Amino acid sequence: MAFGFFKKKIEDILPGKVSTDKEELFCYGFDASSTEGSPSAVVRPVSTEEVSEVASFAFNNDIPVVPRGAGTGMSGGAVPLKDTIVLSLEGMNRIIGIDKENMVAIVEPGVINYHLQEKLEEVSLFYPPDPASMKFCTLGGNVAENAGGPRAIKYGVTKDYVLGLETVLPDGRVLLTGGITYKGVVGYDLTRLLVGSEGTLGIVTKIFLKVLPVPEETATLLCTFSKLDDAARSVSKITSSSIIPRTLEFMDNDSIGAVENYKSFGLPINAEALLLIELDGTHAAVTEEAEKVASICTSLHGSVSIAEDIFSKQRIWEARRAISPALYHIKPTRINEDIVVPRGNIPEILKAIREIAEKNNLIIANFGHAGDGNIHVNVMTDKDDKEEYQRAKDSIKDIFEATLKLGGTISGEHGVGLTKKQFVGMELSDTSIAIMKNIKNVFDPKGIMNPGKIFPPD
Ligand code: MLT
Ligand code: ZN
Repeated sequence: MAFGFFKKKIEDILPGKVSTDKEELFCYGFDASSTEGSPSAVVRPVSTEEVSEVASFAFNNDIPVVPRGAGTGMSGGAVPLKDTIVLSLEGMNRIIGIDKENMVAIVEPGVINYHLQEKLEEVSLFYPPDPASMKFCTLGGNVAENAGGPRAIKYGVTKDYVLGLETVLPDGRVLLTGGITYKGVVGYDLTRLLVGSEGTLGIVTKIFLKVLPVPEETATLLCTFSKLDDAARSVSKITSSSIIPRTLEFMDNDSIGAVENYKSFGLPINAEALLLIELDGTHAAVTEEAEKVASICTSLHGSVSIAEDIFSKQRIWEARRAISPALYHIKPTRINEDIVVPRGNIPEILKAIREIAEKNNLIIANFGHAGDGNIHVNVMTDKDDKEEYQRAKDSIKDIFEATLKLGGTISGEHGVGLTKKQFVGMELSDTSIAIMKNIKNVFDPKGIMNPGKIFPPD
């Protein structure tokens, strides 16, 4: 049946909240990966009831639905395939409550991560997951992708903070899992299953989050190295000491250069690598740990500076968050991977990536959350240069092979979506994939919830 017919019906359900304008359909066809699609309609519900009504209409008419937050995902999870409704949850952006007694925040999925951070700060609380896109990304998207961020090394990722969820199932039923208690073991942990399911099992409409008190003090150290290997070895040495930094971020020379070309932050462009290390806790603990970390880095020929005030700290973090957009100044196309290796294997994986770059004559810029072994590997190329683009794509398989050989995983925090689904079989066994497909089928027997994502093509 022509989509025009369905549009009229959805408009009857949600008057004024449905768009089929060409420009809008174009904008909702992208996320932050280099993949694109084109939906048939964009629908903007503002309540659980409205989400449920649209879902049950889509279910009864076999129309695929793609839930979407701010579209900052890196693996195409929110990119719609053909003849799809994009369900934009941006309008469900209320912070429903901050409960200091129970240390819980209750939010709708369209709340921007940073807006929650600001609200929590007013009452001396914080929510640790801090993806680089925190000023734009939504908490619903963070739940869908199980987003991480620099603070994951000490505080964990989104799944460690989600106590409960309200989810609209593909047929329109509303499922409540967990709640505001910190513990709960009645039945299977469906909350954990839904976190990171990339919108393939249902549409999250309410999130119950654990929050923490703001630490007394934070110290920010910038350590620069003239040898990449010394930086990599410092990471292993710090993580195997008794210190757990709040962040342990890494940038290689290509990333430093790209950021400085983009905007001058004062980073050392001649360094082969730098580490951005933060420590938090009581004044005494932070002072002692900062000294220990500084001495580890200097023992490996690093040069250490400590940010003296809030402005220097903000500048350093602004530089770190600018890496992603800045990389496009190296080359117009970026194949952005997100591998993780056991932390002790960082020197080996960086060496392997360097060899792959040299062998294929490619620029591969590396940065990321070295403290938890999570390196964002960016193969820089130009889609229009067919031969180079092919070489770039071929190098991905080599990078994944090296990662898996070192005991790693092909995605730490960006998800599988569309961009990594053809590689999933390299990491997961047939048995794992078959179980996951069965789970998907229980939630979504018609296969209409964010179809075409995660699973390798048959
Ligand atoms: C980051 O850490 O900056 C993000 O995960 C995004 C990226 O890889 O570009
Ligand atoms: Zn990251």
